[in-house]
Amino acid sequence: MKAIIGGTGIDKDRRFQENIERIVTKYGDAYYSVIDGILFLPRHRPGHSVPPHMINYKANIQALVDLGVEEVISIYAVGSITRRLSPGRFGLVRDFIDLAYSRENTFFDGSTREFRCTPFVEPFDRVLGAKFAKNAITSGSTLALDCVYITTNGPRLETPAEIMAYRNMGADVVGMTLGTEAALIKEAGIRNAAVAYSINWAAGLDAEGISFLEDETIERLAGTIIAIAVNTLS
Ligand code: HPA
Repeated sequence: MKAIIGGTGIDKDRRFQENIERIVTKYGDAYYSVIDGILFLPRHRPGHSVPPHMINYKANIQALVDLGVEEVISIYAVGSITRRLSPGRFGLVRDFIDLAYSRENTFFDGSTREFRCTPFVEPFDRVLGAKFAKNAITSGSTLALDCVYITTNGPRLETPAEIMAYRNMGADVVGMTLGTEAALIKEAGIRNAAVAYSINWAAGLDAEGISFLEDETIERLAGTIIAIAVNTLS
């Protein structure tokens, strides 16, 4: 089974909203739908009701495990820090920095006597990413490559000084979910390609303060990304 995890903007697509099923995992429940053989999992639950710092990431990823998912494309709305990925564009994430705290971010939680220190030299699946990139280009899109994503805890947005610091740390984009989720996906042994799409310039980089793309633009962008993801997994 193959899956798409979607968050802000992406989860407005009907495929994340219709024919929803609930699964109870050992970490709690999660929600998904299966359409044309692909599993769609809304990260923030149906209706986008859970903020990033309160998502039950372990239940979401355990649901993928329990449902036999081996490959996932995970999609993230982000703010742009560098021009590598500017607002209105999307691209593949190559690496991440995780600054989130107080989250359940490992399956090795002391419930068993075993644990593994999972290597993260290559956090994402290169073959799946390349397939997504090829499909994007073939369908007439351009995409950014090699983005570095920094995960903040949220739910507040960042200060300008924080964003300046994150740029100096090497981050291209900022969001609140990928670090926690990607860690669990890899621990679970699921191949993962992460796609980021930018809906704003991060704090301090936009003369107007923080302004987000309009809903219609986000919807169009989300539609394009989901179509490429479905094509890649089909
Ligand atoms: N900061 C953090 N998360 C985000 C942003 C941002 O500017 N935009 C979309 N998700």
